[in-house]
Amino acid sequence: MSFQIAIDGPAGAGKSTVAKAVAQKLGYLYVDTGAMYRAIGLYFLDHSLDTENEETVSKGTEGADVTLQIINGTQHVFLNGEDVTERVRTEKAGMMASRISALAPVREKLVRMQQEIAGKNDVVMDGRDIGTVVLPDAPLKVYLTASVEARAERRCLELKTKGQEADLREIEEDIRKRDRQDMTRKISPLRQAEDAVLLDSSCLDAAQVTERIVSLAKERR
Ligand code: C5P
Repeated sequence: MSFQIAIDGPAGAGKSTVAKAVAQKLGYLYVDTGAMYRAIGLYFLDHSLDTENEETVSKGTEGADVTLQIINGTQHVFLNGEDVTERVRTEKAGMMASRISALAPVREKLVRMQQEIAGKNDVVMDGRDIGTVVLPDAPLKVYLTASVEARAERRCLELKTKGQEADLREIEEDIRKRDRQDMTRKISPLRQAEDAVLLDSSCLDAAQVTERIVSLAKERR
């Protein structure tokens, strides 16, 4: 039986940094489910598809073929054969991902893919609905959060390090908007699973959060 660690939480809480580090320490596969939603969001952006129209929504969901591949130990996401790993990282793609992630056909398609991956591998999977919907029986669930201010500062630094423009106020506003969208949507809203361990990264660094999750995983394995 494969072992699964589900890490959920709002945008910018440090989920991907921590999930990657935990996966590396335990030798598990890291799956960034946000990148999958971002790739479909990119397809909607590239083709200027309306997210409110049933016909274009089904066209977008069916037309976007998303696959994951591990290259040199890192997850790469492909959209119809194109490596979009870098292209999905913009704020625009993140906002679009948040919009299309509220659509039932999109969620059904990606949840199915994620469950298949987790059935075959020991995984650390991060997202919004991993502990509540994708892997409800995961032996370890973590809800990782942090204050809006701490998350915005982190995201700002991350973008600047990559040479992208970043305005702290704008990022804070985007984060609040994305939290609202993710937490209030009708299907699979972001919430802490009842059996998830709550970790707040406002005052903990990535190494401390990683250590805590690794030791919890060793206890439960
Ligand atoms: O985690 P990341 O910021 O890359 O996710 C982008 C968006 O994709 C989120 O704001 C959320 O709306 C959506 N998402 C989701 N379910 C997941 C992962 C991401 O709805 N499991």
